Amino acid sequence: MIQIAIDGPAGAGKSTIARKVAAQLGFLYVDTGALYRAVALHVLRAGAAAADTAAVTALLPSAHISLRYENGLQEVYLQGENVSEEIRTPQVSRAVSAVSAIPEVREFLFGLQQQLARENNVIMDGRDIGTVVLPQAQVKIFLTASPEDRAQRRFQEMQGKGQAVSYETVLADIRKRDEQDTHRAVAPLKQAADAVRVDTTGNTLEESVTRLSRFIRKKLGL
Ligand code: DC
Repeated sequence: MIQIAIDGPAGAGKSTIARKVAAQLGFLYVDTGALYRAVALHVLRAGAAAADTAAVTALLPSAHISLRYENGLQEVYLQGENVSEEIRTPQVSRAVSAVSAIPEVREFLFGLQQQLARENNVIMDGRDIGTVVLPQAQVKIFLTASPEDRAQRRFQEMQGKGQAVSYETVLADIRKRDEQDTHRAVAPLKQAADAVRVDTTGNTLEESVTRLSRFIRKKLGL
């Protein structure tokens, strides 16, 4: 099976780009952030605090999370319910960093991610795919952009969905999440030694998709 790992900070365009390139190549696109978000939603619904390691760990056995693909799109299910929309709310975004810093949570999702990569050609996006989940991936990309660029994209995306937020709030949230994701003890966001760094600051989405698609095809000899 072919494995392509795309890691990078929040809002670098990983999911949009990876989804498009996966469709072009006929690969399964796996957004691993969605899995962490589903765990965070489960924790919030149970009324527990995201940073309460003991409470979060105790809730894991009751979290039934799965990915299903409908018309080529990844849908996330929690307790049999499609939560693909709900995991994108600002409340979940704020809780997810703390939840994902808990080693037991990472352990819990590790097997599911590996199984998907064993059974399919995948483009998997996340924070630790090239370093921890798929260290043997044939292609590793570290996708990044300036915090301002990433905040601008997130802001437009949220506005498009009718969510009432300010650009400043989105930027502050992105900076905070970068800080948390980069400095956590377990599987911090960091570029794998053998990953290629791609900075999309100032690029349009189309430009980034073309750039990555070319790079991946060349690397795989397609
Ligand atoms: O990509 P995203 O914003 O949906 O990710 C949500 C959170 O999940 C992010 O704050 C970091 C965490 N995450 C992680 O720790 N490891 C991954 N492989 C993917 C996401």
